[in-house]
Amino acid sequence: MIRRILVWDVPTRVFHWLQVLSFGASYLVAFSERLRNYHVALGYILLGLLVFRLLWGFVGTRYARFSSFLFNPKEVAAYLLTMLKGKPKHYLGHNPAGSVSVWLLLSLGMFVCVTGVLALQDDASDLVVAMHGVSTNVMLGVISLHLVGVLISSMLHRENLVGSMFTGFKSAESEEGIRRTYEWLGVLMVVAVVVFWFAYVKKPLE
Ligand code: HEM
Ligand code: HEM
Repeated sequence: MIRRILVWDVPTRVFHWLQVLSFGASYLVAFSERLRNYHVALGYILLGLLVFRLLWGFVGTRYARFSSFLFNPKEVAAYLLTMLKGKPKHYLGHNPAGSVSVWLLLSLGMFVCVTGVLALQDDASDLVVAMHGVSTNVMLGVISLHLVGVLISSMLHRENLVGSMFTGFKSAESEEGIRRTYEWLGVLMVVAVVVFWFAYVKKPLE
């Protein structure tokens, strides 16, 4: 029997969408020196979100844990093969192919933010600044692959993965859903981001 099963807890969903907003907004103002304050504040928000996600990967709910989407190359290849045949195995959490983009996006996000902090220092080298820019572009490439992957997976499995990232629910036969959603933590994350924003950004640099 197909049931609606809770897969993504609230902090994972809040993390995802705040990450999209902070990355997108940070990119939009990245090329203006006058708006650098905003760029840096949005970057720090992304860095904070990523640090949270790193911890949540160890102590979070079942499908948010890193151990639930730690696949070896053989498993990824086997999944891709079944995908090519049009009959991929269904995973309730991240599937092996999707997990590759998830690992890449989390690591690249970290790299972009760390090089950004280094680029902010007075004695920052041209190399660090260049690495910051290049890694941003690499990440934009992986984000495009991520979106294509989400679209293909949604079509092959006939499920709305994007909707699931909002509601937390997926439809499946298994009953192995999560029981706790940690709404309070999601609310705390949003409050922390808003407080940080107003505390950090006074006005754009003149
Ligand atoms: C804590 C996080 C971040 C900090 C502290 C930071 C800081 C900086 C600084 C200081 C610069 C100017 C470098 C220079 O020209 O001297 C810069 C440029 C840039 N940043 Fe960030 N950044 C952060 C996160 C991000 C993120 C998340 C993105 C992607 C959305 C990003 C994309 C860029 C890009 C594309 C430029 C180059 C702009 C240009 O070529 O003029 N940064 N960042
Ligand atoms: C800045 C752009 C984006 C970044 C950096 C990003 C990154 C990520 C990451 C790291 C995850 C893993 C979530 C976790 O376990 O914590 C994820 C999952 C997901 N993302 Fe994104 N994402 C971006 C944009 C988007 C957009 C625009 C959409 C929808 C249109 C989307 C749809 C999804 C979906 C559906 C999942 C869950 C996939 C699954 O069911 O396995 N993402 N994304």
